[in-house]
Amino acid sequence: MSSAEYIYSSCSVTAFLEQPLLHSRGTNGIGLDTVIALSSASPKYHVIIGARNLAKGETVLQDLQSKPTTQGTLSLLELDMTSDVSIAEATKKLEAEFNHLDVLINNAGICPESGDGLFPTRDTMRAMFETNVYGPTILTEALIPLLKRSSAPRVVNVSSTMGSIGAISDHGSEFAAVRLPGYRMSKAALNMLTAYQYFQLKGEGFRIWSFCPGYVVTDLGRDREDRVAQGIESSETSAQGLREIVEGKRDGEVGGFLGRRGDNYEW
Ligand SMILES: NC(=O)c1ccc[n+]([C@@H]2O[C@H](COP(=O)([O-])OP(=O)(O)OC[C@H]3O[C@@H](n4cnc5c(N)ncnc54)[C@H](OP(=O)(O)O)[C@@H]3O)[C@@H](O)[C@H]2O)c1
Repeated sequence: MSSAEYIYSSCSVTAFLEQPLLHSRGTNGIGLDTVIALSSASPKYHVIIGARNLAKGETVLQDLQSKPTTQGTLSLLELDMTSDVSIAEATKKLEAEFNHLDVLINNAGICPESGDGLFPTRDTMRAMFETNVYGPTILTEALIPLLKRSSAPRVVNVSSTMGSIGAISDHGSEFAAVRLPGYRMSKAALNMLTAYQYFQLKGEGFRIWSFCPGYVVTDLGRDREDRVAQGIESSETSAQGLREIVEGKRDGEVGGFLGRRGDNYEW
């Protein structure tokens, strides 16, 4: 491995455009806050920002590159997790530009459900599975050769305790009552992907986790104001949790379903 560490993270670009970065607390998605946390953590990190909208990504890239707190280097990669063509093109670009990849953070996710508990339509379920499950599956598979060239490849699938079958099996728990069936199924499937990937790849030195970023203020549920009014925490706290995994502080819990602040969830 060269002295640089190459990290790919998808980024919440839409949210960034709503307010200047200096006022990012509580207004940015988890992906963007993770890019900020990692690029300000160490000059040895090169953070590759994945964005499906290149114009939004460019704005983020330029803003971060001009911040005095940014220590590492950054680049931008166009990537739509629902498109095999986009994943193939992005993989080709990464292979042309980098000799290895150290960390892959599969953060992109959607939750187009209303919370009314009705079962989603086929189209809504398909949309969630395309982004939350099929995208991370196909992207990770495509990037295995580049990750294998790292001395310590790490993959983090950003999941949710909403996908925990253990948690919903406790019918008295706060988690059991949340009425987002399609989203919950998609995150349960993502957790199986993590467990499967880890079983298959641990022999080759891969470290793989699911990570729940916690219930934080972002645009995921289109209820930003409600979350702010409830005093829900900023997604910067989620980014710190992801940073700890990247820095190796959770290596002892490899293969697990982690949360912020040392949390470790049941599948
Ligand atoms: N917020 C929470 O409380 C919470 C709790 C548990 C888990 N999570 C998980 O955390 C992750 C990040 O969500 P968030 O809360 O930060 O929500 P968010 O603010 O809505 O950000 C989601 C990001 O995913 C990107 N994205 C969506 N579809 C994509 C696609 N097809 N290709 C590429 N990128 C795509 C969006 O891109 P654009 O910028 O182009 O829209 C956006 O940047 C998700 O996996 C979510 O399930 C969040």
